[in-house]
Formats: sequence, structure tokens, C-alpha cells
Amino acid sequence: MKSGYNSVGQKSDGMMERIISGKPKEEDVALDTNLRPRRLADYVGQDKVKENTKIAIAAAQARGEPLDHILIYGPPGLGKTTLAHIIAAEKGASIRITSGPAIERPGDLAAIITNLHEDDILFIDEIHRLSRVVEEVLYPAMEDFALDIVIGKGPGAKNLRLHLPRFTLIGATTRFAMLSPPLRDRFGSIYRLDFYDLQAMEAIVGRSASILRIETDQGGIKEIACRARGTPRVANRLLKRVRDYAQVMAKGVITEPIAIEALTRLEVDKIGLDEVDHKVLRTIVEKFDGGPVGLETIAASISEEADTIMDVYEPYLLQLGFLERTPRGRVATRLAYKHLGLPGRKRQPPQGQLL
Ligand SMILES: Nc1ncnc2c1ncn2[C@@H]1O[C@H](COP(=O)(O)OP(=O)(O)OP(=O)(O)O)[C@@H](O)[C@H]1O
Ligand SMILES: [Mg+2]
Repeated sequence: MKSGYNSVGQKSDGMMERIISGKPKEEDVALDTNLRPRRLADYVGQDKVKENTKIAIAAAQARGEPLDHILIYGPPGLGKTTLAHIIAAEKGASIRITSGPAIERPGDLAAIITNLHEDDILFIDEIHRLSRVVEEVLYPAMEDFALDIVIGKGPGAKNLRLHLPRFTLIGATTRFAMLSPPLRDRFGSIYRLDFYDLQAMEAIVGRSASILRIETDQGGIKEIACRARGTPRVANRLLKRVRDYAQVMAKGVITEPIAIEALTRLEVDKIGLDEVDHKVLRTIVEKFDGGPVGLETIAASISEEADTIMDVYEPYLLQLGFLERTPRGRVATRLAYKHLGLPGRKRQPPQGQLL
């Protein structure tokens, strides 16, 4: 792998978007809308979450009540927004979409929730980014379907309680730990989305290929599925790139050798790691003797932002068992050394609890 270049062949200066990033890119917007499953039956994998959703919807419908508030969390691109839309569709409810950073002041949130109707779903993306003052408006709204407002100032000020229609809040976040405990506690259901296994990834690539009318064989599908980091958004993006390559080189048919060629060109390795993942691992191994080393130090050594490493690179490396989080920092595991083709470290990493 050429160092200094990312998987789209551009000079990597730490700010460049990568093809294997789970975060949405501009090109994903149209793709996401086309390929987004609309009903629970089309939502591949995440069986536990699907089962719980079905039960919650059926129970709420039987009681003629709105759904309990739901929090969905997990790394970028795993299907949080998709699931929120599906829940609304399955419940036959309207969905109103906003995000943590978009709600700047308590008044912004008050304007949104006073316009909701009974049974509506309010979807707040990146809910961990709500400010504390806005959160405080949300608490009585979630708990008692009430909005407390203060009219006037000073000793003559009056408290007024407005009753709201019974709505369902669905919050989504990539950072569960950043959510304040009082907010977390007000959700009736908390769903964690996990990376998808190979079988589910193959089903997702196959489904997307058929929607986009791309000709593929099983080997081609498998190759893309293996390298998509257990993340549907990455799978769809890789599929699109491989399709371009196949169109020019192989009359549009994605076979296994074509997929391998295309993905090798994109510098995505057999298990979905690209040059920056390799850089993270090599930095820990070569510069810090396998760790432990702090996230900020790793970020500074490879000129990436610590937040990006935490959201995009680290979850998958942890999932693969290539990295461990200890109280003293990140440690590269034996599996990481093996993948890099290096002999294991001489001394044992210090034992520590997971954070
Ligand atoms: N279970 C699934 N089955 C099939 N396709 C899926 C599934 N989950 C997600 N996708 C595909 O992946 C794309 C990205 O999903 P989505 O936008 O819901 O991710 P997200 O978790 O909300 O990401 P972010 O954290 O960036 O907001 C969707 O447009 C859809 O095409
Ligand atoms: Mg989303």
C-alpha cells in the first residue's frame, strides 16, 4: 500500500474522506434513498432489534397507544436512520426529522414539539449533540407530554404548562457514552446496532445489486461483502465503485476476479482495512511498541482527528479484535501483528479492564 495516499488515490492529509468510512458522503445521499429498505421485512440482519421492534409496535397498536421512546445507537452507516423510518412506516405514523445540532435554543425545540400530532414520531439524529438547556425542555415532553414555559420576567413571572400530543421520540447516536444519563433513562427501549455478519452483508450487496440492476456472480458479491467492514453504507459505496470498474473493464459484470481487481485498486484490503487503518495499527506497533498509547497521541502521529479515529476507524478495529481499549490507552493485539505480517510483541501488554 502506498503511504501518504488514501483509498481514493488522493493525498491523505487527515481531512480527506475515505471510501471505507461509514460516515455519509455527498454521493451517498441519492444512493441511500434508492437503496434504503422501507419495511422491516427488507431490513437485513439485526434480528434481535427487529424482533423487539415488531413486538413493541404490535403491543402499542393493540393498546391504541403511541410507541415508547426509542434510542438507537451504533457506528455510522449501520442503519439507524433507516430503522427510524421503518418504525414510522410500520406504525403508520408520520415522522418529523431533525438533529441535535439543528436545535440550538429551547425555543427551536418548543416550536417543533408543539407542532406534532398524536402518534407522530419525532426523529432526532445525533441526539448526543443537544445542549443541556434544550435537553431540559425535552424531559417533561418525553415523560409527561408537557411543555413548561415561563411568561414574563422577575417576580411577576408565571409558569405555564402546555399539554402536548402523545408523540414518540426516536433518538439516534453514534456516541452512546456522550448521552447524559437523565436523557438516556427517559427512553423506554434502547437498541444497539452491531456490525453485520458476512451472511447479512452478502444479502445487502445482493439486494442493492438487484435494485441497481447490476449483474454479479456470487463470488463478486462475496468479495464486496467481505471488504465492507460489516457496514451497509460502505457495502453500497463499494458496490458502486466496483460497478464503474466492471463497466469499463468487464462489460459491466461483477465477477470475483473483477471485484478483487477493483477493490485492490481502491486499496481496500481483504478484510476492509485501508491505508489509514494500516497506519493506525503500524503507528501503535512500530512507534509505541504495541501500546498502550492514548488516542490523542495516535491521532497526532498520523495527522487525523481523534474524533474521526474514534467514530470511523476504531470501532471496526475493536470489532476485529485488532485493538484493545485499556485504561492506559489502546493496545495492538496479536491478531493485528498477524494481519500486518509482523512477529508478535516481545513483552505482554499490561492487563487492564476494558473501558
Ligand atoms: N439493515 C439494512 N439492510 C439493508 N440496507 C441497509 C440496512 N441498514 C442500512 N442499510 C443501507 O445503508 C444505508 C445507510 O444507512 P443509514 O443512513 O440508516 O445509517 P445510519 O446508521 O443512520 O448512519 P449515520 O450514523 O451516518 O447517520 C441506507 O441507505 C441503506 O441503503
Ligand atoms: Mg443516520
